Amino acid sequence: MLSDFIQAWNQGRNVELYETENEAIDHAGNLWSGLVAAAPWSDKDLLDLGCGSGFWLTRYAGTARCLFGVEPDGSLLGLARARTSAADVLHGSAEHIPLPDASIDVIHARFAYFFPSPTNDCDPGLREALRVLRPGGTLVVIDNDQQDGEFAELLHTANTAAHQGPGEYIQRWWKERGATTERIMSSWTFTSPQELQAVISMEFPKGSARPWIEAHPDRETLSYGYLLHTLRKGRELAPHLQKEA
Ligand SMILES: C[S@@+](CC[C@H](N)C(=O)[O-])C[C@H]1O[C@@H](n2cnc3c(N)ncnc32)[C@H](O)[C@@H]1O
Repeated sequence: MLSDFIQAWNQGRNVELYETENEAIDHAGNLWSGLVAAAPWSDKDLLDLGCGSGFWLTRYAGTARCLFGVEPDGSLLGLARARTSAADVLHGSAEHIPLPDASIDVIHARFAYFFPSPTNDCDPGLREALRVLRPGGTLVVIDNDQQDGEFAELLHTANTAAHQGPGEYIQRWWKERGATTERIMSSWTFTSPQELQAVISMEFPKGSARPWIEAHPDRETLSYGYLLHTLRKGRELAPHLQKEA
C-alpha cells in the first residue's frame, strides 16, 4: 500500500457509476480540443497519472507512441490493465512515479492528486511529474472550474471545494509554479435523467443533490466548466518548486 494514497470517494467506491460519469463527459469535444491544443501527444510518450480504472487510456491509445498509466489504488489496477494492451499500467502515485527521469513527453492528470489547498501540499507530486518529463514536456491537469457552469453551482451549494481556500487560490497556486490556466465550458450528457441523478447523488451530499434533482427532474445534461492547468518543463524550476529540490 502506498503511504500517500487516498482512495477516491467517487471512483474508488463506485466504479460502475464513475464509468457512467466518464461516458457523459464532453460530448461536444471542447475539453478534448483543449487537451490537444495544450500539448499534442501524437507520436509522443504519454502518461495518464492517477488513471483510475483506465477509462481514458483507450482514447489516448490510437495516437500516443508509448502509453503509460499510473494508479495507486490496487483495486483499480486490474480494470485499467484490462482496458487496452497498448498501455503499460503501473502501480504508483504522483509522488512516486515508477518511470525514469526525462522519459515522458506529456502527462495528463484528470481529477487526480492535484487539488492544491492551504492544507494540501501538491508540490511533491509536481516535482515528481517534472522529474519524469523530458525538457520541453508538458503536464496538463484537468480540474473543475468553480465559477462557471451548473456543476460549479452545485460545488458552491455543497461547499465541497471550500477547503481549497477562498477565491482564486487554485489559479494563483498554478501561476506561482509557472503554469497557465485555461477555462473550458462543456457539459455532461447522460442517456436518461436517472443516470444524471445517480451521478449527482454520488458526487454531492444529499442536502445539495436532492434540491437540484427536484428542481430539474427531466434533465439529462448539465453545463460543466473545466480548468486546464498547463505547465511546460523549462530549463529552470519556478521558485516554489526549488525550495526542496
Ligand atoms: C476521481 S478519480 C479519476 C480517475 C481517472 N483520472 C479518470 O478520470 O477516470 C481520482 C484518481 O486519483 C487517484 N489517486 C489518489 N491518490 C493519488 C496520488 N497520490 N497520486 C496519483 N493518483 C492518485 C485515485 O486512486 C483515483 O484513481
